[in-house]
Amino acid sequence: MTKIDVLLGLQWGDEGKGKIVDVLTPQYDVIARFQGGPNAGHTIEFNGMKHVLHIIPSGIFHADKVNLIGNGVLIEPCIFRKEIEGLAEKGVDAVRNLFISKKAHLILPSHRMMDAANEQAKGNMKIGSTLKGIGPAYTDKIARTGLRVGDILSSDFVERYLLLKEQHIRMAQTLGFDVAAFRLDGMTLEAYEQQWMESLTTLKAFRFVNSEYFINQCLHDNMRVLAEGAQAMMLDIDFGTYPFVTSSNTITAGVCTGLGVAPSTIGRVMGITKAYCTRVGAGPFPTELFDATGRYLCEQGHEYGSTTGRPRRCGWIDMPALRYACMINGVTELYVTKPDVMNSLDQVCMCEAYEIEGKQTVEIPFEYNTVEVKPLLKYYEGWRQSLEGITEYAALPQQLLTYLEAIERQTGVPVAAVSISPDRKDVLFKKVQ
Ligand code: GDP
Ligand code: IMO
Ligand code: MG
Repeated sequence: MTKIDVLLGLQWGDEGKGKIVDVLTPQYDVIARFQGGPNAGHTIEFNGMKHVLHIIPSGIFHADKVNLIGNGVLIEPCIFRKEIEGLAEKGVDAVRNLFISKKAHLILPSHRMMDAANEQAKGNMKIGSTLKGIGPAYTDKIARTGLRVGDILSSDFVERYLLLKEQHIRMAQTLGFDVAAFRLDGMTLEAYEQQWMESLTTLKAFRFVNSEYFINQCLHDNMRVLAEGAQAMMLDIDFGTYPFVTSSNTITAGVCTGLGVAPSTIGRVMGITKAYCTRVGAGPFPTELFDATGRYLCEQGHEYGSTTGRPRRCGWIDMPALRYACMINGVTELYVTKPDVMNSLDQVCMCEAYEIEGKQTVEIPFEYNTVEVKPLLKYYEGWRQSLEGITEYAALPQQLLTYLEAIERQTGVPVAAVSISPDRKDVLFKKVQ
């Protein structure tokens, strides 16, 4: 019996999870998504090709690997179809190696409408949702009114769909939302709904499985399984910067509920962090930079959302948040991405503690959203050189190695590898002595 390894984001998303999953996939037999849905945008680059995945696991470019969409994931059939078609254009036939849990919930067009209605109703307390229907679909799951992938095959599916849609329309109207004026990809709800229904045909071509049996059998057969997280620790529904979070458990514990595996089966936990920090959408971000350095990180790092194209907010790495992430997730190794973005900086900073109401702390306070959290920064010398062409971890500039050692010391977790470009080939693994 093997254990299931976990890979997840430690900040506010977009740490480079997709890229690292793709790099690690040769070491695994199965790649499984356990939460989130099309709010995710996981970028993979190789051979001059760039591809962004939303619902499909990042192991899909390796034809001999099994990919699984677990019960904890949300599927929007139109977005799923587009993703499948996009892969087909690149010669990837996902039907052969992608399995879908019958218990995964469906995002209806009216869930997406409700996302827009809720955001509108929140006014300046907007979360900055990706508007993919995540919150409303998980709300229906918890309210026990949702529709699941396995339901598509039942004879009363359309009837149940219509009932749920009508309920959403009534709720949107109660919020004062103009349902008739609502557009999804430029279409009315009805026009989009037609495409959504047609997209079910694409979905039905895939193998629907009782994924909890499927994954446990894989572990029993000594297959190597990697669980791929979406979003990240600080967007977790319980431990993130609530209410500015997503609606799922993005943490290691989410693997158990999102795939149906026992806590004792969890193996390595790989935490991904950028060498700096970004956030897209609203909510606290103590180390955010509003100056030229912030703009520099945004431009140099191409920090624009993979799903929405929105500019990401940029700032320094936040060690209290990173330590919190390592604690909650039981991170056993760190992967640090994008130090190359900071190549030209004379100095790089690390937030080592916070000052809140005159007191120093290294804890994430309950009042994170409402009090002023001042980052206490430590300056490190920049490496001021390109990392291009470096093929070994030990050959990284000394200043960068010092910075990485500080991350290790402060988290108590070793760095396993550093990524120095968007390309698959540029991940430098640290040789263990
Ligand atoms: P994910 O959501 O965690 O999979 O990350 P995204 O794909 O949303 O965002 C990460 C972005 O950084 C993508 O555009 C990647 O191509 C890019 N990227 C990943 N690793 C590196 C790296 O080491 N250096 C640079 N410059 N870009 C990277
Ligand atoms: P990946 O997997 C970054 C953010 C949104 C918003 C909040 C809630 O690519 O790292 P939602 O649509 O879930 O209701 O949005 O969470 N968010 C992400 N930010 N990366 C993501 O995914 C995100 N998924 C959601 O911007 O602030
Ligand atoms: Mg992303």
